Amino acid sequence: MKLSIVGTGYVGLVTGTCFAEVGHRVICVDNDAAKVKLLQTGGIPIYEPGLEELVQKNTAAGRLLFTANTAEGVANSDVIFIAVPTPPHPDGSVDLSYIEKVARDIAAAMTSYKIVVDKSTVPVKTGEKVAETIKRYCKTKVEFDVVSNPEFLREGFAVEDLMKPDRVVVGVASQRPVATMKQLYAPFEAPVVITDINSAELIKHASNSFLALKISYINAVSAICELTGANVIEVAQGMGLDARIGRRFLDASLGFGGSCFPKDLSAFVKIAEQVGYNFGLLREVQRINADQMDRFVKKINDTLWVLKDKTLGVLGLAFKQNTDDVRMSPAVEVCQRLLKEGARLRVHDPKAMDKAKAVLPPSDNVVYVDDMNAVAEGCDALVVATEWEEFKRLDLQRARQGMTHPILFDGRNLFDPAEMAELGFIYKSIGR
Ligand code: UDX
Ligand code: UDX
Repeated sequence: MKLSIVGTGYVGLVTGTCFAEVGHRVICVDNDAAKVKLLQTGGIPIYEPGLEELVQKNTAAGRLLFTANTAEGVANSDVIFIAVPTPPHPDGSVDLSYIEKVARDIAAAMTSYKIVVDKSTVPVKTGEKVAETIKRYCKTKVEFDVVSNPEFLREGFAVEDLMKPDRVVVGVASQRPVATMKQLYAPFEAPVVITDINSAELIKHASNSFLALKISYINAVSAICELTGANVIEVAQGMGLDARIGRRFLDASLGFGGSCFPKDLSAFVKIAEQVGYNFGLLREVQRINADQMDRFVKKINDTLWVLKDKTLGVLGLAFKQNTDDVRMSPAVEVCQRLLKEGARLRVHDPKAMDKAKAVLPPSDNVVYVDDMNAVAEGCDALVVATEWEEFKRLDLQRARQGMTHPILFDGRNLFDPAEMAELGFIYKSIGR
């Protein structure tokens, strides 16, 4: 099938590439000419495991093309996906101006029946607005269908999540696009849930908010563990073996971040408010998340007493492992808080150092260290802020010897408290 994807970011590029991988012909459109040029010449603007190889393979096979021209994408495809950003306004509501502009651009270029699929995360009822907009701006009055097809990709595992999805949600206003949407996703062999458009849009906000709620729940439990001497990992294990609960997304942490959970929670609270429902439960999820960060920073302050002129090593800058994405990263927030208290930082991330430099500029107080094992050199304490697997292989002997005091604050529970004590570390983690 012939597709185009407007918006070639974390979501659009992975989606387009995986569709090409299963044999569809895909045109990725982006209004960032430099990004398009980079992709056309074999470069890749983001880090996502397994993606680069797939982009190169499918570009070479002629199934994956890149352009900055929306009309070119529309003219040469039957199905057009919208995957542009839907950032938050200061009040938490969603800025839909990119979606609206893309809908107009698609409308202006349509000369035959098209299926326009919204993949961006949008408030319920956006599909109706997109359909209205296309109808208004389509010069030749051709037929079209609007479909809602939310993404459920975890950054760092996006290729895997797309190739082996738990489910595919397709919201439609008529039966006409259903067969095409099913055919499009057939190679992924996942259950396809057909709903109305409003329900599909709600499924996305309801799912992400629920996952965020699950994390805040275990984070609240971690606070109680700290007050009672229980161990949150054992609690999560015991809870998670109940199939009705499940172990995933019960990892206590210094808080969740990223470009989705914080924004989707705010949006869902706002959407509920606009339709007359007070979603206090989700406000509490947000409050617990903020509190978790405060408690972590307080732990550092309480232990080190004064941070001014102390040097702290920070492992992790990305908002989670396996990505170079630092949008709404709790790791970056920890760094900013420590800097505000007058600390000097030595920071490292396996993939996110380049992107982090935009929000945490290198200076006398922020030194970027290429080798994770060299971070602890001359530090008063170490902080683990991102759950990268490779941090578990940190040379702890070397770290201890290089530090003025062997103190480690672990915001991701990567190490075993007993082993850390044996190695001579003062070790403070989450909920243990
Ligand atoms: C975005 C949305 O933020 C999210 O709500 C949605 O679920 C999927 O799309 P993401 O892919 O992470 O998520 O965003 P980003 O990496 O910023 O990529 C968006 C791309 O769209 C960028 O490459 C940007 O240049 C491009 N873009 C933006 C357009 O092509 N046209 C526009 O009008 C605006
Ligand atoms: C999320 C959803 O998982 C995905 O389905 C959706 O479409 C996009 O938003 P993403 O933001 O890429 O994906 O990452 P995710 O793996 O959900 O992690 C989000 C944040 O929660 C990270 O900061 C992560 O470190 C944190 N987290 C996750 C925890 O603190 N504990 C957990 O148990 C799981």
